[in-house]
Amino acid sequence: MATTDDARAWGQTLRFWTRVSLVYLIAITVTGAVVRLTGSGLGCTDWPTCQTNTELEAPGFHAAIEFGNRMVSGLAIIPVVGAALAARRGARRDLRPWFIGLIAGFAGQVVLGMLVTRTELDPRVVLGHFLLSIVLVWLAVVLDHRIDRLDRTDPGPGDPFRALGRATLGLAAATIVVGTLVTGSGPHTGSNEGEPVPRLGFDITGITRIHSVMAWLLVSSVLIGLVYTRNSPGPARTWLQIIAVGGFVQGTIGYVQFATGVPVVLVGFHIAGSVLLWTAVSYFHLHAEDGFQVEAPSLRRRPALARAK
Ligand code: HEM
Repeated sequence: MATTDDARAWGQTLRFWTRVSLVYLIAITVTGAVVRLTGSGLGCTDWPTCQTNTELEAPGFHAAIEFGNRMVSGLAIIPVVGAALAARRGARRDLRPWFIGLIAGFAGQVVLGMLVTRTELDPRVVLGHFLLSIVLVWLAVVLDHRIDRLDRTDPGPGDPFRALGRATLGLAAATIVVGTLVTGSGPHTGSNEGEPVPRLGFDITGITRIHSVMAWLLVSSVLIGLVYTRNSPGPARTWLQIIAVGGFVQGTIGYVQFATGVPVVLVGFHIAGSVLLWTAVSYFHLHAEDGFQVEAPSLRRRPALARAK
């Protein structure tokens, strides 16, 4: 019979593997960006192996980067399966749909990775590959958050803080999606033997303007959240503070890279920053959904109302 100690031990194992999966998924989003920014997307001529001929030959720079990324990405399945097995042993059926989503998304990434090569870096496939990574990071955050949320309290419908959490998540997603359209229309879509591949064709200034407006809306919702939770220490407010600082850094890099002709190093930091910011926004949204740890103004007024009666 499973004891409380067993359950706790499995909970810890589950949390360990889930967090390793999350860190790994964040890291491979960045290594994927390195492939694109170094123009190594077509460094390999074959999939899933790198070269079609079987003779051993020294890989070139681009082939080494591209194949290294494939190897590193493939290993991500280890922590994901480790976490899924721990959830199974710990009888956490409630987590099953999330693990199925994570494993299905992982399989989708393998297919998209193949299509990226087969379509010779079609920007729509490349941005789909990036956006699916973002979804996988979100799934890992949801799993991490749900591990100890069996006794979740429903804050009730119409909690304004919940709406703010959803708006922040939606705005972050929109900023990221439009960001990929900026990249797809700019010089860093990828290159084939030194020649840039065809782009999406949006006017670069116009699409960048839309992207920065989305970023400003995101920052505004974070500032509203900070005012709303000013007397309410708790995880939601901590995540908001992290997002505020991260958003400032991310926005600064965005403007500087735009003004300086999108240098590769800055674009790399901007991509890494976007994944980290997305992770923070995902955690914030889940805490805002929980509501119970946030002593928001509407909740604080309740005792006073009770006294008045
Ligand atoms: C603060 C929130 C922001 C987030 C989350 C964000 C996110 C992103 C993402 C995900 C991409 C696409 C990366 C890729 O496809 O690999 C991108 C590209 C870009 N962003 Fe942002 N961004 C933000 C703010 C800004 C701001 C304020 C600017 C200012 C103009 C900006 C300028 C750019 C530019 C120029 C690109 C294209 C870079 C390239 O050539 O690849 N971003 N951003």
